[in-house]
Amino acid sequence: MTAEPAELAALAIDIAQRVGAVALDGRRRGLTRVSTKSTSTDMVTEYDTLTEASIFAALREARPDDTIVGEEGASHVGSSGITWYVDPIDGTTNFLYDLPTWAVSIGAHDADGHGLVGVVHAPALGETFHATRGGGAFLNGSPIRCNNEVDLTRALVATGFNYSPANRVIQARRIPYIIDKIRDVRRFGAASLDMCFVACGRYDAYYEEHLFPWDISAGSVIATEAGCAIRNIDDLGNAPSAVLVSNPTLSDSIHELLISSNH
Ligand code: 2AM
Ligand code: CA
Repeated sequence: MTAEPAELAALAIDIAQRVGAVALDGRRRGLTRVSTKSTSTDMVTEYDTLTEASIFAALREARPDDTIVGEEGASHVGSSGITWYVDPIDGTTNFLYDLPTWAVSIGAHDADGHGLVGVVHAPALGETFHATRGGGAFLNGSPIRCNNEVDLTRALVATGFNYSPANRVIQARRIPYIIDKIRDVRRFGAASLDMCFVACGRYDAYYEEHLFPWDISAGSVIATEAGCAIRNIDDLGNAPSAVLVSNPTLSDSIHELLISSNH
């Protein structure tokens, strides 16, 4: 089965917008089934599972030979070499509280693990970010680029905290070491949108530890295509899958600052 990135992107945009509309409509009518996963604050609503099931069914129908990995457990092993990473609702806590920063995140990677397509659709913002490898990054169809801030002291830096109390304490301990060396910190709570917000210049940088492929798959394609540098910062030492996204010039200085926050 051929895999033109533009066709995959069109498919993922269509799916994300359809299921996102259902989830937004459902949220506005009220949630009835809310439970917890790994910790008492790691929430799952009926729309996390329903949205993932809808995305899974649509991808299986359109791309029967592709592999699918979903945060809520959806899984299919295919033979095409293409893998879809699905976070049906990224920013579940925001969804729960009716804060608008949540998104349907759908990314596709090739057989070598390289990003092919990223779609991050935020229904409550009316915003769809998408990118294809080599084809640029877009917000609602218009091209986006990361900004070109080079001064660390003027950098607006976003981050996030893991659901595990022990992990989030370690993450929070970094803040006193960085807060006086940058402009300020933001924590909106949806990794995929955080990456997109660097990609369109709403932040200068974003870093977070303890992320999973479905948190970063789509956003990494969008950020890369928008000119961002994305680096693995596992050398911070606390977790697998720690990621830093910024414009290429700021990347080294923020990385050094984060290393200096290791205590
Ligand atoms: P979620 O809303 O899909 O759970 C919060 O800082 C960001 O990190 C969100 O994108 C959140 O995704 C993700 N995140 C935090 N802890 C996580 C965990 N234990 N597993 C998966 N994603 C996590
Ligand atoms: Ca999620």
